[in-house]
Amino acid sequence: MYHPLVCAALLLFSFCFRVDCLQLSDCNKTYVPLIPDAELITNLSLRNCSLPRLENAFFVRFSHLLQLEVQNSGLSDLDDFSLNGLAKLQSFSLSHNNLSSLRSWSSEPLAALTTLDLSYNRLAKLRENSFSLFPHLQQINLASNHISQIAEDSFHGLAHLKHLILSGNRLQHIDGTFFQGLHRLSSLALQHNLIESIEMDSFESNTHLRSLRLDGNQLVSLQFLSQRGLARLVHLNLSKNQVQKLEDQGFSKNFELQALDLSHNNLTELKKETFSGLDSLERLNISYNNIHLMDAESLEFLSSLIQIDVSHNRLTTLPVQIFQANSQLEDVVLAHNRVKALSPLIFKHQNYLRYIQLAGNILDKAEFLESLSPSLNRLSLNVDLSSNRLQSVSMKDLLHFRHINLADNNWSCAWLVGNLVRKLPPSINFARPWTVLNNWSENLANIQGVDCTEGNTNRSIILLNVGEVLHNENTNCGGELTYDEPNPSPPPLTWPKIPTDRFDSRSVIIWMLVAIAIAFAGLRWLRRFVDRNENRTGERLKALNDMYVSKWQPTRKDQQRS
Ligand SMILES: *[C@@H]1O[C@H](CO)[C@@H](O)[C@H](O)[C@H]1NC(C)=O
Ligand SMILES: *[C@@H]1O[C@H](CO)[C@@H](O)[C@H](O)[C@H]1NC(C)=O
Ligand SMILES: *[C@@H]1O[C@H](CO)[C@@H](O)[C@H](O)[C@H]1NC(C)=O
Ligand SMILES: *[C@@H]1O[C@H](CO)[C@@H](O)[C@H](O)[C@H]1NC(C)=O
Ligand SMILES: *[C@@H]1O[C@H](CO)[C@@H](O)[C@H](O)[C@H]1NC(C)=O
Ligand SMILES: *[C@@H]1O[C@H](CO)[C@@H](O)[C@H](O)[C@H]1NC(C)=O
Ligand SMILES: *[C@@H]1O[C@H](CO)[C@@H](O)[C@H](O)[C@H]1NC(C)=O
Ligand SMILES: *[C@@H]1O[C@H](CO)[C@@H](O)[C@H](O)[C@H]1NC(C)=O
Ligand SMILES: *[C@@H]1O[C@H](CO)[C@@H](O)[C@H](O)[C@H]1NC(C)=O
Ligand SMILES: *[C@@H]1O[C@H](CO)[C@@H](O)[C@H](O)[C@H]1NC(C)=O
Repeated sequence: MYHPLVCAALLLFSFCFRVDCLQLSDCNKTYVPLIPDAELITNLSLRNCSLPRLENAFFVRFSHLLQLEVQNSGLSDLDDFSLNGLAKLQSFSLSHNNLSSLRSWSSEPLAALTTLDLSYNRLAKLRENSFSLFPHLQQINLASNHISQIAEDSFHGLAHLKHLILSGNRLQHIDGTFFQGLHRLSSLALQHNLIESIEMDSFESNTHLRSLRLDGNQLVSLQFLSQRGLARLVHLNLSKNQVQKLEDQGFSKNFELQALDLSHNNLTELKKETFSGLDSLERLNISYNNIHLMDAESLEFLSSLIQIDVSHNRLTTLPVQIFQANSQLEDVVLAHNRVKALSPLIFKHQNYLRYIQLAGNILDKAEFLESLSPSLNRLSLNVDLSSNRLQSVSMKDLLHFRHINLADNNWSCAWLVGNLVRKLPPSINFARPWTVLNNWSENLANIQGVDCTEGNTNRSIILLNVGEVLHNENTNCGGELTYDEPNPSPPPLTWPKIPTDRFDSRSVIIWMLVAIAIAFAGLRWLRRFVDRNENRTGERLKALNDMYVSKWQPTRKDQQRS
């Protein structure tokens, strides 16, 4: 009656090489009940099949199944007893189907079932006792359905449930009855719903809750946080809601909280008592809000804080004592605010700093770099001061950082040239990709340049990385010259390829001279090109008398003016 050869073409044995695992795709309803040796199979996966309906006792021959997946198979209907006989089943997935109602689909309890995945279906509501024949469930995934109603006692009897995923549904309101009796629940995912309000006793019996995701909802008030059930929370995600104001001591009951994400809300200020009680907090994210004011004592309670992200707000200044109590800080993100000045002593108390990110502010001084804590290990510190308005910095303080980015500032040309002629370590970056030349030729697009101001004019300095190319070669043990993509030299100056073993000091000097000559020729050519293209006069090509920095006059700004 069945044709093993025909069927074999449809079989897809993938990661399971033993007989007890079977993965099928593109199968159909007539074939599944005919699978040979069904009673030996422990893991059965049916994907992309055509199985719109499962009849009663459909899997009765698979009496040893531990894991069953019927995914992406257009399933919309299961008869009331279609799971009969699966007494050993531990894990069951019906994700990516077309189910609109949920029942037990069995006449007796599936006592071994611990994991149920019904994600990506069309379930709209959960009725009472939906899971009462699955008493040992530990994980339920109901993500990406259309659930807007959860009846009282829907999860009744699930004393072992630890993980419940309800993300991507249409819940608007969290009722006190929804999660009643889930005493072991440790993570609850409610992100990407339409939740506007949460009743005060919603989590009253979930005293083991450690992780709560509420990001991507429409919460305005966080009052619900003060209920007893949330006292052991460790991770709380409130990103992408509409919170405008944090009440004083609003987090005072969540004293075990370690990670709090409040990004993408509409907060405007952080006051002294805002975070009181968060003694264990290690990671705080309040980026993408409208914060313009941080009280000097607003972080004073956060003595365990390791990471803080306040980027993309409207801060103009930071009180000098702001980080005084946060001695464990490693990662401070203040990028994309409007900070004009930072007190030199702001990071005086931090011995473990690894990242200071200040890009995209309007700082004109970076004196705090000179007053970092003496015990701080500078070799592990990364500082990003790009896109500010710095005119000069004290170079001797910067030489021993792991990396410092100084690109796109308002450098004074005289200071810059004086400092660039010294050999800078690769950990200091001034350059940014110079897009001005994009239009000339494909090859020129990767030039690195530094902008600076001299008197009232803007100038640009182009970095010809001759020193870098040669330096790199000396450390290579064999092979031919190659070009380092992140540090490209201007392409018209193509370097001759020579084997490294002939690279003694004499040839270094010779090649440097050749390189300088080519650089001059290239610059002359570029200038002619400018003159021709831009019809400009009066610019004089000036090259600096060192080997890896050249400077010339034409700039973007000048072009715009003319
Ligand atoms: C089911 O698949 C078998 C081959 O395995 C094929 O012979 C049969 O026609 C298919 N039935 C339907 C209804 O598509
Ligand atoms: C099932 O179909 C989807 C597209 O509909 C495809 O991406 C996926 O790889 C298929 N899976 C299998 C196991 O054939
Ligand atoms: C078979 O299913 C069991 C129970 O879910 C699981 O622990 C095991 O990893 C699965 N084996 C394979 C090879 O997928
Ligand atoms: C799911 O059901 C809807 C309506 O009943 C239907 O339009 C859709 O084609 C079905 N999807 C699949 C994958 O069978
Ligand atoms: C919070 O959720 C957002 C997505 O909405 C995610 O990008 C972010 O990483 C989450 N935060 C934490 C701390 O897990
Ligand atoms: C944020 O709050 C301000 C008032 O504080 C309001 O004018 C603005 O519309 C709010 N923005 C959003 C996106 O809700
Ligand atoms: C803070 O949240 C924003 C937006 O969700 C995210 O882009 C950023 O990476 C987070 N910061 C940290 C330090 O994780
Ligand atoms: C850049 O520095 C010059 C002095 O070198 C100063 O006149 C100018 O105002 C500064 N520009 C900005 C935007 O701060
Ligand atoms: C340069 O830009 C102009 C206009 O911006 C465009 O018309 C022209 O095609 C570009 N030339 C090249 C070589 O891309
Ligand atoms: C120099 O550059 C700055 C910032 O890019 C700009 O605001 C200013 O107008 C420029 N000055 C001149 C004289 O072009």
